[in-house]
Amino acid sequence: MTTQDRIGAARLRAKVMQAEDAAALIPSGSTIGLSGFTGSGYPKAVPTALARRIKAAHDAGDPFRIRAWTGASTGPELDGALAEADGIEFRLPYNSDPIARAKINSGAMDYFDMHLSQVAPMAWQGFLGPLDIAVIEVTGIRSDGTLVPSSSVGNNKTWLDRADKVILEVNRWQNPAIEGMHDIYYGTALPPNRVPIPLVHPGDRIGDTGFRCDPDRIVAIVETDAPDRNLPFSAPDDTARAIAGHLLEFLGHEVARGRLPPNLLPIQSGVGNIANAVLTGLIDAPFEQLTAYTEVIQDGMLDLIDSGKLRLASATAFSLSPEAAARVNRDMAQWRDKMILRPQEISNHPELIRRLGCIAMNGLLEADIYGNVNSTHIMGSRIQNGIGGSGDFARNGYISIFMTPSTAKGGKISAIVPQVSHVDHIPQDVQVIVTEQGLADLRGLSPKQRARRIIDTCAHPDFRPALADYFDRACRGSYGLHAPSLLNEALSWHQRFIETGSMRP
Ligand code: COA
Repeated sequence: MTTQDRIGAARLRAKVMQAEDAAALIPSGSTIGLSGFTGSGYPKAVPTALARRIKAAHDAGDPFRIRAWTGASTGPELDGALAEADGIEFRLPYNSDPIARAKINSGAMDYFDMHLSQVAPMAWQGFLGPLDIAVIEVTGIRSDGTLVPSSSVGNNKTWLDRADKVILEVNRWQNPAIEGMHDIYYGTALPPNRVPIPLVHPGDRIGDTGFRCDPDRIVAIVETDAPDRNLPFSAPDDTARAIAGHLLEFLGHEVARGRLPPNLLPIQSGVGNIANAVLTGLIDAPFEQLTAYTEVIQDGMLDLIDSGKLRLASATAFSLSPEAAARVNRDMAQWRDKMILRPQEISNHPELIRRLGCIAMNGLLEADIYGNVNSTHIMGSRIQNGIGGSGDFARNGYISIFMTPSTAKGGKISAIVPQVSHVDHIPQDVQVIVTEQGLADLRGLSPKQRARRIIDTCAHPDFRPALADYFDRACRGSYGLHAPSLLNEALSWHQRFIETGSMRP
């Protein structure tokens, strides 16, 4: 393999350099727009070289730090390396890296957690400030200078359009057969010039297969050959299988009642092992010709496509275990026509999610008896990951479903609490809650009806009596009786956990 294979534009080959030299072009204080969405398509050499440079600067007494904007979470060579070096002053919009999480929760790093659909528009609106440099992984550069994207699209189009300077990483590990899978829409605009986005089916193609990029703004090209890195999924356990079972039964009922078509509506599946268990469960479910309009393509979707059940998946990134990533990368030509990767502004666009009628299925940390959902903050103050796309899909989906085991930390924490310690999703955006105990359909219910249903259906039996007791007393002693609450007690379960390590009395 030669440089020419991947860099077709001859005039750009002179910009090829080592990662250290490219990192040296990034001054302290820069705002950097980085590619990457989950452990896919993130730059793998320049951030680590930058982290080394930052460490050396700190050793010499120079407080070198940067501001990082990404698509969502990335890999350890990006968030992990830069956070470890204490190199990130500010980050947006979603993080799941444990080192960065610890820095955020210790107060050493500022983090702006935002809806993933809103990142690109807010950058264009100027709400986030100027963008100095884009560092973007691509599969190749065509002879006309357009860029072949890699395994995630995220906000790359926006970073390439907005940044003063561009550094490209051309990753030889990405199979060139991925070319043609992407759909990069160039029709977005700011109000008052916005027009409808012409996408009416999950499989519609409305854009280009590559990114446009002004060659004069490209200051460096770094060649890499490194795999994407995501965590492996665990095999579904009994809890995940039970949750998937309740959910699939519910979808079957919705079809039987004529509220969903037999092939369902486009599915959106959140991150994590439970979401993957639901996808695995769909293989044996009686639904055919499914489609997905979602944020990430996970392992379970590959098997669904292989089984012929899933016709097409549209997303912004792969989020595959190492084995599944190798499988897709090896046989890319076979997958290319069944998957579309789009900018996250399009994969998560409220207009499109509402139009297509997505079935939104996302995880939660805790829900309260009224159906408020906390997806992000442990004990109200410690960030876990971020809201990601859950708000985009929950508010705009056809049905919004949240799923969780009924307990956490070996049974010491109840996922159903009197009042959540932080609110990401209000009851109007939470239509169904499902745990391994059962599924609560909350559509059309008043707060008091919701409370009874959530306690009786979703709560773990160990916590059910205490929840029922709280609710009964609230119904007698609350200031108002629309959504009864005992304010001096509502968060006492969390306080007890902080003080004793358990929510149990
Ligand atoms: N209180 C305190 N801690 C809790 C908890 C609760 N109610 N529920 C879970 N946890 C802890 C777990 O013990 C675990 O801790 P550990 O990492 O120390 O083991 C951690 O939180 C993650 O829990 P887990 O059950 O492994 O989570 P998951 O992988 O199923 O993910 C979310 C659940 C909510 C964290 C995840 O779905 C998320 O980040 N959601 C927001 C973004 C999103 O929905 N994106 C998809 C949109 S497309």
